[in-house]
Amino acid sequence: MGLLFRSLVVLLMLLSSSWLPIVVAQSPASSARELDAVLQDYAYRAFVHPRTGVVYDGTVPSNLTGIKVAGIRLRSGSLRSRGVKYKEFDIPIGVVVQPYVERLVLVYQNLGNWSNEYYPLSGYTYLAPMLGLLAYDAVNLSATNLPQLDIRSSTSPIKIQFSDVKSVPDGSVAKCVWFDLRGNVNFSRVVAKSTCSTVQQGHFALVVESTAPSPAPSAPAPSPVSHKHKMKKNMKKVWIFVGSILGGILLLVLLAMLLAWLKKYQQKKKMQHMEKASEGGEALRMTSVGSAKAPAAMVTRTQPTLETEYAP
Ligand SMILES: *[C@@H]1O[C@H](CO)[C@@H](O)[C@H](O)[C@H]1NC(C)=O
Ligand SMILES: *[C@@H]1O[C@H](CO)[C@@H](O)[C@H](O)[C@H]1NC(C)=O
Ligand SMILES: *[C@@H]1O[C@H](CO)[C@@H](O)[C@H](O)[C@H]1NC(C)=O
Ligand SMILES: *[C@@H]1O[C@H](CO)[C@@H](O)[C@H](O)[C@H]1NC(C)=O
Repeated sequence: MGLLFRSLVVLLMLLSSSWLPIVVAQSPASSARELDAVLQDYAYRAFVHPRTGVVYDGTVPSNLTGIKVAGIRLRSGSLRSRGVKYKEFDIPIGVVVQPYVERLVLVYQNLGNWSNEYYPLSGYTYLAPMLGLLAYDAVNLSATNLPQLDIRSSTSPIKIQFSDVKSVPDGSVAKCVWFDLRGNVNFSRVVAKSTCSTVQQGHFALVVESTAPSPAPSAPAPSPVSHKHKMKKNMKKVWIFVGSILGGILLLVLLAMLLAWLKKYQQKKKMQHMEKASEGGEALRMTSVGSAKAPAAMVTRTQPTLETEYAP
C-alpha cells in the first residue's frame, strides 16, 4: 500500500505541474488577438454609408470603455500611390497589401488605460497608450473574425507620432516598442520627438525601462479599476484549475480501484491454483481412519503391466 500511495502522490504532482503552466501562460497573447477581433467588428459597425478615404470613429462596448477604435476604407491602389495620414499614423507612398484586395480597411486602435491589461511588458512603463494599426479586406463590411492582411512599406517607413505622452523620468531614455501579431516584441530607437517608425502593421507604444531600485511606482502594477476584470479572469483560471484537479483525483481513484481489483484477482487466481493443485493426483487424499484423518494413497500412478500383454 505504501508503494501505491507514493506512486499516487507522484502522479498527482505530475498532473498539477503539467496543467498549471498551460492555464497561466495562455492568457495575455490570446486575449489580445480576441480583442483585435472585437475591435475589427466595432470599427466595421461605424461604416454605415461609408465614403472612401474618410475616417469613421467607432464606439466600443461598455466593458471596454477607455479604448478608441476607428476605421478608414481605402482603395489599395491609392494607398500605394498616395499614402494617407490617419490619426497618429503617417503612411507614406509605396505601402503594399498582401494578399491583393481591391479595397481595404485600416482599423485604428488606441488602447488607452487598457494597454497594460492586454500588452503587459514587465520591466517597462508605458509613456503613451498602445496604438494599433491593422489591415483587413473591405469587401464585406458586416464580416467578423476576418484575417488580417499583410501591409508592408517598401520605400520609407510608416511614422507614428504619439500624443498624450508622459514626461520621461530623469536619466531614462524613451524607446519604441512594437508587438507583431504573433506576440513577438521588438524595441527600437525613437526617430524624432515622440515618434516611432515601422515597416509593418501591429501594436506600437513608447516605453521607458522601469528603474530597478524603485520598481514600486513604475512597475506595470494593476490599477485598482481593472480589478473586476482581473478577478473575472482569475476566477476562470481557478475554475479550470479546480476542474483539472478534480479530474485528476477521479482518475487516481479509478486507478486505485483498478489496482485493488487486480490485486484481489491475483490472490483469487493463486487460491484457485492452490486448490487445483491439492485436488490433483499428486497430493495425498485425506482419509478417515477411525476418528482420525490420515493421508492415504488412492491410486498408483503407473499401473503395472505384464510384458506379455504387449506380445502380438
Ligand atoms: C464584453 O461584454 C460582452 C457582452 O456584452 C462579452 O461578450 C465580452 O466577452 C465582454 N468582453 C470583455 C473583454 O469582458
Ligand atoms: C458578409 O458577412 C456576413 C457575416 O459573416 C455574412 O452573413 C454575409 O452573408 C456576408 N455577405 C456577403 C455578401 O458575403
Ligand atoms: C524582432 O526581434 C527579434 C528578436 O527578438 C529579431 O529576431 C527580429 O529580427 C526582429 N524583427 C524585426 C523586424 O526587427
Ligand atoms: C479605463 O477607464 C474607464 C473609465 O474611463 C473604466 O471604465 C475602465 O474600467 C478602465 N479600464 C481599466 C483596465 O482600468
